Amino acid sequence: MSNVSLNEKIPNNVDLSSDKRLQRALEQWQPEFLSWWKDMGPEGFQEKDVYLRTAVSVDPKGWAHFDYVRMPEYRWGIFLADPVPNRTIGFGDAFGQPAWQEVPGEHRNTLRRLIVTQGDTEPASVEQQRRLGQTCPSLYDLRNLFQVNVEEGRHLWAMVYLLHSYFGRDGREEAEALLQRRSGDQDKPRILGAFNEPCTDWLSFFMFTTFTDRDGKYQLLALAESGFDPLSRTCRFMLTEEAHHLFVGEMGISRIIQRAAQLMKEGKDPRQEGAIDLPTIQKYMNFWYTVSLDLFGSEVSTNAANFFGAGLKGRAKEETYADHVALEGAYEMDLYEDGKLVRRSVPMRTAMNEVLRDAYIDDCAKVLNRWNKHAAEVGFTFTLPSRRFHRNQGLFAGKYFTPEGREIGQAEYEAQQAAWLPTDADRAYVQSLMVNPVYQPGHYANWIAPPAKGVNDQPIDFEYVRYNEG
Ligand SMILES: [Fe+2]
Ligand SMILES: [Fe+2]
Repeated sequence: MSNVSLNEKIPNNVDLSSDKRLQRALEQWQPEFLSWWKDMGPEGFQEKDVYLRTAVSVDPKGWAHFDYVRMPEYRWGIFLADPVPNRTIGFGDAFGQPAWQEVPGEHRNTLRRLIVTQGDTEPASVEQQRRLGQTCPSLYDLRNLFQVNVEEGRHLWAMVYLLHSYFGRDGREEAEALLQRRSGDQDKPRILGAFNEPCTDWLSFFMFTTFTDRDGKYQLLALAESGFDPLSRTCRFMLTEEAHHLFVGEMGISRIIQRAAQLMKEGKDPRQEGAIDLPTIQKYMNFWYTVSLDLFGSEVSTNAANFFGAGLKGRAKEETYADHVALEGAYEMDLYEDGKLVRRSVPMRTAMNEVLRDAYIDDCAKVLNRWNKHAAEVGFTFTLPSRRFHRNQGLFAGKYFTPEGREIGQAEYEAQQAAWLPTDADRAYVQSLMVNPVYQPGHYANWIAPPAKGVNDQPIDFEYVRYNEG
């Protein structure tokens, strides 16, 4: 691809047209990305016209441009939020010094690892969701799935831009490796656990976009504080897109709950009617919420302390804290010591993962409150399980806790887990509802209520994907 067409195809505000080094790196990488997208992107829909928004600038009013596009022709762009003039580092040992415009040598490896770990989640989620189009509940939902997918693709671009522009040869190698790992693959899995979990039904998809994308939001908020200014600006712009993913998840679950509640109010059993009953929804919630809690890492972490001390990864909304150096404070949390739960104060810097997890948990609780308004109409209440339940990372991994957080033995856990987590039969039931996709404009599967309104002021029976043509 020539430089001229490269520049046309890649909307950007990073002055790509005069950056020869970046052009050369992208000339190599862009075709590899496209072949990854064709292999691992949405299966069966590459040739369809999809009503998508494309970021064409960072102007808050003008950045979202809507039109029909075939996904392989989507214009994945590179955008950084506008610089903050004279920005200084907001936390850690270098607090108050000018933000870095280049990678500080002593933090180079750590910073690259942070960027690669974030970057790896983006293509992973596309891979996890690649077959969902074949079981969609409506063209509206199909379009939302693809919007999320192309934006996760753009988030990969955002991280690859940083690797290409600031990390030289090993950055380019990492950028290639991001296209080589595969979600769920035995030999070359994605880096983080939740991104290797299969996401093969729409209830899981909406849980993923509610809970796992919300982990993404908190990681991005923490990285948006980074003293490395290009990373901060990149993450700030990604957050504007992430908000839509969270909306898709929350509204998807909300509509599934509304459908079940409607049937219950008519005196019917949702499962008898081909909808999803509320206890099954709770079990899926328990699963996706807890695998997402794992993504925040260990409760007490010297890595997290180092990221904070180095000024690389802060707390979400760092400006709301009084002490940005955090060398003296302590943080209280539940720990597991000598087979017992104990409440302890730990040095603030080592608690940064838990601080971020706490903010995430509060945010999830607000989502549940909104879902519970619909559930309350039929006398049901969804609850978030204890942070100790069903954990595979951190202090509580390998132990057995009830969703209320009470420690129990393995045998008791195994005897009860069918009531807490989706069983094979639950998964088979949910899948059985989604065998026949709904591709008629304005039609919605029986297990989900239609949305309150359409995308970009279009009606809910708009042809969001031109499935039936061409
Ligand atoms: Fe993302
Ligand atoms: Fe996302």
